[in-house]
Amino acid sequence: MKQQRSAHPRGRGLAMLALGFLGGRLLARTGANGADGTDGAADAPARHSRRIVHNAGEAIIAADDSSRIVLANPAAARMFGVSVQEMEGSPLARFIRAPHAMDAKPLDYFQADGRAGRRGTDYAGTGLRANGEPFAIEGSIVDTRQNGSTVYTIILRDVSERQRVQRKLARSHDQLRQLSSALQTIREEERTHIARELHDDLGQLLASLRMDLSLLTEACGGTPEALRLIGGMDSNLLTAIASLRRIATNLRPRALDEGGLYFALQGLRDDFVERHGIACDLLADENELRLDDQASTAIFRIVQEALTNIARHAHATRVTMNLYRLNGELLVTIRDDGRGIREADMEKAESLGLVGMRERVWALNGEITISADEAPGTRIDIMLPVQDHTV
Ligand SMILES: Nc1ncnc2c1ncn2[C@@H]1O[C@H](COP(=O)(O)OP(=O)(O)OP(=O)(O)O)[C@@H](O)[C@H]1O
Ligand SMILES: [Mg+2]
Repeated sequence: MKQQRSAHPRGRGLAMLALGFLGGRLLARTGANGADGTDGAADAPARHSRRIVHNAGEAIIAADDSSRIVLANPAAARMFGVSVQEMEGSPLARFIRAPHAMDAKPLDYFQADGRAGRRGTDYAGTGLRANGEPFAIEGSIVDTRQNGSTVYTIILRDVSERQRVQRKLARSHDQLRQLSSALQTIREEERTHIARELHDDLGQLLASLRMDLSLLTEACGGTPEALRLIGGMDSNLLTAIASLRRIATNLRPRALDEGGLYFALQGLRDDFVERHGIACDLLADENELRLDDQASTAIFRIVQEALTNIARHAHATRVTMNLYRLNGELLVTIRDDGRGIREADMEKAESLGLVGMRERVWALNGEITISADEAPGTRIDIMLPVQDHTV
């Protein structure tokens, strides 16, 4: 049996005015309100309601129990591209796509799950313009008993433009996400390329210069002054080689390409402890972190940003990084015991670190939460489905 819904009684405002007006009109039709049916003092509230409903910017219709329109205002007529006269007396199905049920009540013309719009009384439906063109509508519905029968007053909104803009926004959001992911990949490839060039090309050159220098020392015999100069050159060369290694590693750690994620994270942890003097535990199993380049790079960069943030903002004394697999997912937790991240921190327009972290996680269809819920400190929880990224 078809289940009857009842309209939500909230959000009555205009709908009640429409009913007031409707009541006045019905009384007028039966002649109960004076000779001409409109001039009596008792009819004044109905006339007032009528004016408001007539001039309302919102489309208002009322339908009876047999889904026949008994009232429509000019805004409703404009929405459907017809006249008020054409609407009044017509079946509701001419203007709102009808449900399959034969004995459908006005409420059945709208989707049963409701909550289409901002209020609990908003129901979604499909309007039909005079030329048959369908368009998305929302209706706030109020049902009331009038002279023994039920009257449904519906305030309608044409939401087709809003939906079009929402779709466009969603599309452009998707495109931005794809662009961001493509840019991250390009950036990573460039970093890898430059790091390799620095290491293989410039690094080799510096190493061979050092060898030449030691040959030169032997060949020229060398005055004390020359030996001092050569010694200075050699120490400068050593500094240059160390700088080059540091720059190349910062661009892209070789461990990520040669040893794997676990060793790259160990390097990151060691460097963090040495540079900032903050204790940091890495709890992970090397075998569980055998992942392809996309996932390894994403996790490495996320952890790197989290550690940079801790060093810059947290005033922490201890960090724990926990990475483990559970049912084909990699769970990553990074916790510090610092001052704790605030809600407002996460919305800073100029900050891109957390945004980048989220984008990397979402690009892998994962989930991320950043919170300060367990005082003291900040906690980052990430879930990544890595089944397709395991090597
Ligand atoms: N571990 C943390 N503890 C406390 N506050 C934090 C922590 N991590 C981030 N924050 C706060 O969140 C803000 C946003 O971080 P986010 O990484 O997005 O930007 P940022 O580090 O300020 O700049 P950048 O764009 O260079 O990363 C930070 O400015 C900081 O106030
Ligand atoms: Mg940051």
